[in-house]
Amino acid sequence: MHSTKQLFQAVLFLMTTSSACLVAQVVDLPAPQKNGGKSLMNAIAERATSRDFSANAQDLTPQQLSNLLWAAFGINRPDGQRTAPTAKNVQDITIYVLLKTGTYTYDAAANRLQPVLKNDKPTGDIRTLGGTQDFVKNASVTLIYVSDLSKFQTLTSNRATAREFASIHVGAIAQNASLYCASEGLRGGVRASYSREKLGEALGLGTDQWIVLAQSIGRGN
Ligand SMILES: Cc1cc2nc3c(=O)[nH]c(=O)nc-3n(C[C@H](O)[C@H](O)[C@H](O)COP(=O)(O)O)c2cc1C
Repeated sequence: MHSTKQLFQAVLFLMTTSSACLVAQVVDLPAPQKNGGKSLMNAIAERATSRDFSANAQDLTPQQLSNLLWAAFGINRPDGQRTAPTAKNVQDITIYVLLKTGTYTYDAAANRLQPVLKNDKPTGDIRTLGGTQDFVKNASVTLIYVSDLSKFQTLTSNRATAREFASIHVGAIAQNASLYCASEGLRGGVRASYSREKLGEALGLGTDQWIVLAQSIGRGN
């Protein structure tokens, strides 16, 4: 059962994300729900990769999207530290959020989706670029984990080492997201199958930004 407040939030979310295609609107997410769900051990027991998404299934609700992103790499302490660890707290990872309604980055501090702009224009639905496998287009959302390697300057000047750290960071973040999905009965899985070139171009990534991994999430029939 959905409460009136949840329905109102869903309608507001749809309105703001639809108009984002035209005016690059920031999308405020509902506050993440930090309790409830399955027990940690149940979620671990149910974590599994699924590639079986239904294109006609309901998209994630705004609340689920907020919970998912917070679980993955939200802020869980007053000093701004996150739900997943990063070496020397470099917080190099940005989550790009590929939705039907457009392409965003997750702003954890503001609990918002910030539209990705290219030549001042909002980037639309590029979910098909989120992976080279056919099922990807049927997922409600694909998360792209991108490291800003310039953030490692105080830690290492070696790019290969920075990439190793970034990969470890994304391992923890993606597992947080996977466990949330298992807890919520959502399907999904991480993927390394994407065109780094095409996706990087579509996201407008710079030379310091390195795509680490993709994760597609949705529902079945
Ligand atoms: C780094 C990494 C890359 C992966 N890349 C892909 C991929 O490109 N396509 C895909 O379908 N699955 C991909 N997977 C998912 C694995 O195939 C899956 O985790 C594995 O078969 C074990 O299944 P399980 O996750 O259900 O335990 C990837 C997993 C990891 C950890």
